[in-house]
Amino acid sequence: MEEIKFYFGENIPLELHKVRVVQKLHLVPIERRLAALEEGGYNTFRLSTNDVFLDMLTDSGTNAMSDNQMAAMMQADDAYAGSQSFARLQKAVEDVLGKKYYLPVHQGRAAENILSNAYIKKGSLIPMNYHFTTTMAHITQYGGKIAELLYDEGYVIDSKHPFKGNMNIEKLEEIIKIHGPKNIPFIRMEASTNLIGGQPFSIQNLRDVRAIADKYNIRLVLDASLLGENAYLVHLREDEFKESSLADIIKTMTELSDIVYFSARKLSSSRGGGICTNDLDIYREMEALVPLFEGYLTYGGISVREIEAMAVGLYETLDETMIRQSPDFIAYLVDSLESHGVPMVTPAGVLGAHVNAMKVCEHIPQSQYPAGSLAAALFLISGVRGMERGSVSNQRDEYGNETYADMELVRLAVPRRVFTLSQIKYVADRMSWLYENRELIGGLRFVYEPPVLRFFMGGLEPVDDWPQKLIAKFKEDFGESL
Ligand code: F0G
Repeated sequence: MEEIKFYFGENIPLELHKVRVVQKLHLVPIERRLAALEEGGYNTFRLSTNDVFLDMLTDSGTNAMSDNQMAAMMQADDAYAGSQSFARLQKAVEDVLGKKYYLPVHQGRAAENILSNAYIKKGSLIPMNYHFTTTMAHITQYGGKIAELLYDEGYVIDSKHPFKGNMNIEKLEEIIKIHGPKNIPFIRMEASTNLIGGQPFSIQNLRDVRAIADKYNIRLVLDASLLGENAYLVHLREDEFKESSLADIIKTMTELSDIVYFSARKLSSSRGGGICTNDLDIYREMEALVPLFEGYLTYGGISVREIEAMAVGLYETLDETMIRQSPDFIAYLVDSLESHGVPMVTPAGVLGAHVNAMKVCEHIPQSQYPAGSLAAALFLISGVRGMERGSVSNQRDEYGNETYADMELVRLAVPRRVFTLSQIKYVADRMSWLYENRELIGGLRFVYEPPVLRFFMGGLEPVDDWPQKLIAKFKEDFGESL
């Protein structure tokens, strides 16, 4: 991979694209930001983009599209069945992911619904490196349970381990022996393990998981939503693949998996999703569920325009200059925040920079949601919308008790090719200021708590008047500045 050096010696990620379509942003005054938080129940999901300056909630469906993707959308072939757009997508899936049979679905969680419907029943156990919110919700909805099998180092927030998303192979075998292979319909590996900070697994680890899957005759499912980025980090960090292309690394990973599913809102900078396999029996086990839940088999609930964008986006995943842009910006942001003392998830991962809210807000007990509080405080003082990835994002156990998250993180997503470097510098500036004034941040409590995926629509309120105190200090330091 080529590096571009600066004569001045500064180590900054250079954008290898130009901006040809722009959208105006608004940085509204802090009083309006407070009102927006109050209206949105101190939940960044419920903010309106009218009030948001930099939207770092997620990369899902917010990555910039390329000129070629937009052009492809214009040649879409609208047909309920047998669309040429679908034929092009099918070819892209085969070329990029190496799988012949492809089932389209409208987004990643729809794939999880279909997989769970096909394979999970009461008593099923799904071993995985780590859960994602929607994955766990679907598995438990169908009566299954999950077993999270990271190595201990996966939970170490400030670490140098290159592959914190690796699955603990010894524990995997132990769990299979205890529960019996027949109760384990599949093992799930998530590329760039989202909830622990976008941390990859190594190909060696995937090979070891494959060996166990073969030994006990269990299917191996790969969640490929962040596959391109995992491949990029394998290229950087795993010696065997230093000279390999992204295309080869991606194929190596998908070849090791029986079923690959993905959210195209991430993987291909478009919308939609899919499940693919080379095993006709597996395909048949899920085929009928697509028309039932999603739409006919040649569109799966996705518009044909998006199908075209997905096909082009899949090929573009193999372009190093495209796939490295977000991880390189994230590494820059993480380094910059760390140099100001802000505790971050390290090594820098993919999808976003992750702030260790448990440490920033040491004074806030987990029962008052330190990550939710930090996400709200950051929005208040900057207009930057991050996402709570801590106990608010956890679900209660079957008896209705809180289950506190292993990590309390605020994720600052860096969608591909969306932000400029000065915007990233602004985030580092405001987050560093907030860190210095962290003792002013207070806790939150629920006033409205939905029973499923509560973090999406839940409403909270501050436990005291800490937002007003934070505003006063902001005014003291920044004067009339927005
Ligand atoms: N798997 C992973 C690893 C994901 O990150 C996501 C979504 C999904 C599955 C579900 O896909 O949203 O298309 O239904 N992650 C988004 C995020 C929501 O913000 O990280 P979906």
